[in-house]
Amino acid sequence: MPDASAARLPKPTRERVVKIEPSGQHYSLLVAPGGGFLGLDGFDESGASAVFSTADDRVMWKREADGFRHVATGRTAHLESGGRIVIDGRTLNERGEPGGAAAAFAVGHGPERLSSEYLRFFKEHGWVCLTCVLPPEVVDGLQRVACTDAYAAHTPDRGTPQFSQSAALGRTAAEPVSLWVIRQYMRTDDIRFAHTPALIVLAQDDGRRNVQGWHSDYPYHWGVPARGQVPTQAGDIVLGVQRNVCVSEFTKERGATAFKLGSHALGHGPPDSWGTAGTHGRPGYRAEHGLPYNGPDADVIEAPPGSIILYDSRTWHRAGVNRTAQPRAAMLQAVTPMFVMPKSNTSGAYRHFIQSAAYQQLTSREREEIRAMMVHRFLGPVGRDVITADAELTSIVDGDSLW
Ligand SMILES: [Fe+2]
Repeated sequence: MPDASAARLPKPTRERVVKIEPSGQHYSLLVAPGGGFLGLDGFDESGASAVFSTADDRVMWKREADGFRHVATGRTAHLESGGRIVIDGRTLNERGEPGGAAAAFAVGHGPERLSSEYLRFFKEHGWVCLTCVLPPEVVDGLQRVACTDAYAAHTPDRGTPQFSQSAALGRTAAEPVSLWVIRQYMRTDDIRFAHTPALIVLAQDDGRRNVQGWHSDYPYHWGVPARGQVPTQAGDIVLGVQRNVCVSEFTKERGATAFKLGSHALGHGPPDSWGTAGTHGRPGYRAEHGLPYNGPDADVIEAPPGSIILYDSRTWHRAGVNRTAQPRAAMLQAVTPMFVMPKSNTSGAYRHFIQSAAYQQLTSREREEIRAMMVHRFLGPVGRDVITADAELTSIVDGDSLW
């Protein structure tokens, strides 16, 4: 018997598909006890070894039969029992230097390509996909919290702040290659999360519910009925990079994000004729008017789980339409330079997080990254005060007739 609801489902959309295939190969990271990365400082034979908190090309190693070969210099490191690393016959300490107490290094999951290659592509195109950059166990942890994929039958925990539920969220937030690329692209090391990183699940479409319209992300917010939008023709300083983690596989059929790739360079938002987020946010709009633009002038990036898609926040995009019965999860993060006001208050989630078991499982480097990005500050009477919400003052000013 035909399913009446199926008759309402939209036809397959006609966006151009950009399919990202995994290479099946990835570099290795040699991770020091504090979570930093062993690298060689310099790109010639004389480069000294050290532990770095950032993951640029200096920390990329290729696993070989007799050890790890440093990609930029060709030098070799040997991994010995207990995680000891030996370079040029000398054992390294926790700072990655020869001599002193030998440190135990761990072999970490690295990216498919060099950080500099991702940056070059990002600068040229306004987006880049770091394919399968997250370790499989982190992807599993994200799917478990999202209750998708192998955990689709589970019930989400609504009682605990999401960011505290698993170390997988913190590990993802502190993923080092994408952070290095973002910092380079925005030309500042001082970056922040504009909101608490969040797992978002897109369920099967029913043919009637509202679908997100076309827009640019925070802080630009072109196409969004928000206050404080960045003026169009905003100049060449980058005010936002969106970092979308594919927790589930992203396919067009399963609701992968739709983009107008390259539109970040246009300096203005999507046209009204495409159906903006403001228009499509009106109650009942989709049921009456149908989907926003989904033709061949738009693009869908299909990517495997564990991939991180970075895009310039000016890029026109909208959520996809999930035409499958499998909910699709993503972890969304808006990253801004520190001089942009945060979109929402991250302090409560951060305060809960540092008291959680998930926090205890992170390395010092991961903790420091998350603190730097989630704690917003301004000058106070005797130092740099943490910015947080003042509920009492909010109620006073909101009740003030002068406002
Ligand atoms: Fe968006």
